[in-house]
Formats: sequence, structure tokens, C-alpha cells
Amino acid sequence: MPDSGRGGGRGEKTIALQAMKGAGEKIAVLTCYDYPTAVWQEEAGVDVIFVADSVGTNMLGYGDEREVTMEDMIHHLKAVRRGVKHTYLLADMPFGSCDTPDAAVENALRFVDLGADGVKLEGYKVEAFEALALRGVDTWAHLGLNPQIHHKRRLKARTALAAARVVKRARSLQEAGASFLVLELIPEEVGDLVTRRLTIPTIGIAAGRLTDGQVLVVTDVLGMGDREFRHVTRYTDFSVDGREALRRYVADVREGRFPGERHVGHLSAEERASLESGVMEEE
Ligand code: KIV
Repeated sequence: MPDSGRGGGRGEKTIALQAMKGAGEKIAVLTCYDYPTAVWQEEAGVDVIFVADSVGTNMLGYGDEREVTMEDMIHHLKAVRRGVKHTYLLADMPFGSCDTPDAAVENALRFVDLGADGVKLEGYKVEAFEALALRGVDTWAHLGLNPQIHHKRRLKARTALAAARVVKRARSLQEAGASFLVLELIPEEVGDLVTRRLTIPTIGIAAGRLTDGQVLVVTDVLGMGDREFRHVTRYTDFSVDGREALRRYVADVREGRFPGERHVGHLSAEERASLESGVMEEE
């Protein structure tokens, strides 16, 4: 049974993650879109495995997050769920799924019923957060750059006034019941200020070093995409290694190096002799 906190107070996983803020322990979050990567992430000790709507641009070949549907999210959530045994599982509410508080509740409960421990909503949707809190659904807010809303990827909260608005909105969303806040593409100073003004943990992506945790897109961490981002460290270069592996496979098939002796099964000497002595004609 997922530990979503549904039907009452916060779940144990949420309480444990929130306690990390008080203890000064950083929270490591990664996006995840499929079963094998979910298994790797849990083995690596990732604190929150996040089925994000960036599945659209990173896995489905869409041009924009806004093309992602509830059905896309459900398909990937189910795959990731099969690979996660005990880690907090977060699901992203896709574009258009939270336009009213009722829609937010209906769609979020579909994710919770499939095993999500919490859901993340973009935008300043105070009433949706309140409605979800009333149903006991654990929620994550998301301020700064919101890819579902902002078309250009540029630094947010660059002025004191804009920074103060982020702090104010963050506090209202916390008040409305949000358990966590993702902060995206804002100056480090603003990430720090919001983090100090909230009791709930903040998780940053391109938001500096001083948030309570960090989230990155797993395909960026594994170096699968061709684009480089300033806020990312590519911990491996799978786009190079993966392409090279595929080229070697094609060459091996064409040149008869694959399959080799170790890949094949054989008839016993007796069966082979029988086959060659005409058993086929008897049939
Ligand atoms: O969809 C996404 O990748 C996100 C980021 C904040 C990690 O929401």
C-alpha cells in the first residue's frame, strides 16, 4: 500500500523527508521514466523517485511538456512503480490536469491509486492544494520557472520585487497544505531566502546550492541527451557510450562476429546424426 498519507495525516515517508530539513541533511531527487532506471535509482539511494512530465521531451519525442497527457503519465508511473519497493514515489500532474480543484483531486487520486506517494503541481493553484490536502493527498508545489506555463527558459525572480513575490507565494502554498516546494531556475540568493522562510523542504533545480535538496533530470545526469546545461553535471556520457555500442552491434552482425559460439545452442551429436540420416523424410 503506498504511503501517501491519504485519509489523514502525512505519511511516514513524508515525515522522514521533512525531518531531513531540520537535521540539515540534503535530499536527493531524480526524475525517472522507466522500470530499469527505477531499480538503479533505488539501489543508489535516491530519496525521491520522480515520474516527471519531462518524460514528454526526454522519452516520448514531444516538443513541449504541454503535450504530455494523464495517460502518458499513468503508463510511465506504472512502469516506475514496478521498480520501486520503498522509496517515496512522486508523480507530476500534467498540463491541464489541475485546471479546477475538482479535476486536481480526481486526477491526483488516479496517481495515488497507482502507488504515487505524492503529486507535484505547477503554478500558483492555492485552491487545488487546499482541496488535495482535504483528501489527504501529499502535494509538492513548484515555483520559479514552470515549463508548463513559461515558454522561454530564462532565469526567474531576478529582481527584489519578483523574489519577494516568490517568497509570498511559497508561504501561501505551504499554508494551503503543500509538503514540499520545487524551485526552478532562480538566483541562489532567492533559493536561500525561500528555504529559510519555509518550514517545508525546498528542492532546487538550477536554484543554487542552499535549498534543502536537489532534483535533476535523469537523462541529463546519465548524459543521454545532446544538450549541455550549466546547472547539470553529466555523471556519465551515455550518449557517446550508447551510440558506440549500437555501432559495434551493427558492424558485428554485418561482419558475422555476432552471434558467436557462446551465444548459440546445439543439437546433440546423436540428434544431429539422425537429422542428417534422413529423419525429415520419414515425417
Ligand atoms: O518535469 C521535470 O523534469 C521537472 C523538474 C523540476 C525536474 O518538473
